[in-house]
Amino acid sequence: MEQHTARPPGRTGFAASMLRRKPVEAFVDEGGVGQGGTLRRTLGLTQLTTLSIGATLGSGIFVILGEAVPVAGPAVVLSFVLAGITALFSALSYAELAGMIPLSGSSYSYAYATLGELVAWVCGWCLVLEYGVSVASVAVGWGQYLNELLQLAFGVAIPDALSQPPGDGGIVNLPAIAVVVLAMFLLLAGAKESATANTVMVLVKVVTLVLFCAVAFTAVRAGNFSPFLPMGLAGLSAGGAKLFFSYIGFDAASTAGEEARNPQRDLPRAILLSLGIVTVLYCLVALAAVGALPWQQFDGEQAALSHVLTTIVDNKLWAALLAVGAIVAISSVVLTVLYGQTRILFAMSRDGLVPKALSKVDPKSGTPRVNTVVVSLFVGLLAAFVPLGKLADATSIGTLFAFGLVNIAVLLLRRRHPDLPRTFRAPLSPVTPVLGVLCCGYLMFSLDVATWIVFGCWMAAGLVLYFCYGVRRSRLATREAA
Ligand code: ALA
Repeated sequence: MEQHTARPPGRTGFAASMLRRKPVEAFVDEGGVGQGGTLRRTLGLTQLTTLSIGATLGSGIFVILGEAVPVAGPAVVLSFVLAGITALFSALSYAELAGMIPLSGSSYSYAYATLGELVAWVCGWCLVLEYGVSVASVAVGWGQYLNELLQLAFGVAIPDALSQPPGDGGIVNLPAIAVVVLAMFLLLAGAKESATANTVMVLVKVVTLVLFCAVAFTAVRAGNFSPFLPMGLAGLSAGGAKLFFSYIGFDAASTAGEEARNPQRDLPRAILLSLGIVTVLYCLVALAAVGALPWQQFDGEQAALSHVLTTIVDNKLWAALLAVGAIVAISSVVLTVLYGQTRILFAMSRDGLVPKALSKVDPKSGTPRVNTVVVSLFVGLLAAFVPLGKLADATSIGTLFAFGLVNIAVLLLRRRHPDLPRTFRAPLSPVTPVLGVLCCGYLMFSLDVATWIVFGCWMAAGLVLYFCYGVRRSRLATREAA
């Protein structure tokens, strides 16, 4: 199909280049046809839902819960609800857009259709924080659980020199490299193969958490819930801001638009279903954890759920099983988030904003091979050699920014293209998208100054890249020049 640039009226030259939009109709018709070949449509509703659950359920519940309990007390259960509602507003917007623009680029593609090329680039650059950088920090957590399991089972641990990056007392983080390389090989085998492995891993992590609840509920004492709000409402919302991280990833299905068998129907369902399942699980686990152990006893405990089990039952087997579950859980986050990052870059490369090699599809496996290897190398090196503390905080701010843009995109498309077919409509719009923008803004401003500085530097680097490369190489720019 012939593709035109939607140039903003009255603007010419450089400013117009940055504001040029890719028409929504062009996205819909593009339907996954890249210059380097097409991805294969192999994923059904189950795989898409487990893709999103896979990317969401991980270190948040296994690690961050332990940091949120001392902040919120037993009300941490409501902190999960609060963070879940914040995620829900944006999830409704994601569902509407994923059903309308079912491509692999997720919010990057939605921003390109509504807010122009520069904002789309900025959004794609933020998604590298949400996906590429977060997966590196999640891989680091994987190494910590591996060490815990080795200690529980054999009384040994990998020495710090080989399991920590320089700056955190080590030389190289080998476990982090190992999990990234494993995920890379699965992804190279094909999307269907990766999705099948992920579905098994998601089952394991859900069963692990259900088992945790079954054991912990036997030890629940009503007294542990009183006082319910020891830190007041401020503690409850601070806990919610911390726990927002545990919901990051529900949007992962939106990176699979070109590999879904029926994207218009299944993507909105997968996004909302995964968020619902994850929210119920989080609340149950939190209820069981703070009901079984007085909230003060979570302070300083990294592996909170393991700590609960080792305290309430003598047998170490349960804690070992939980460590296995956490290792599998985090592996599936690494796999699915790595997948998402490759597909977002695929879409950006097809639009000419990053090198073309990243959208070349291997005809045998139907996967973008060069892209997968490049992304895995970047993530592996980051996880192996960089202490990720501050960079990991930047994950949340980058994600919130991208979510905010998605809510704005819904509002703009409702005005500009009210009649375009939508398989899902965010209810009560404009109320929910506006609440989505406000919630994202509120959580962004509750993050500390250091995080904003890291974010500012990241954005500056992204803008330099865009003005040195993308602005001239963009497919829309070359069409205009022709
Ligand atoms: N939500 C993902 C996790 O909790 C990033 O690991």
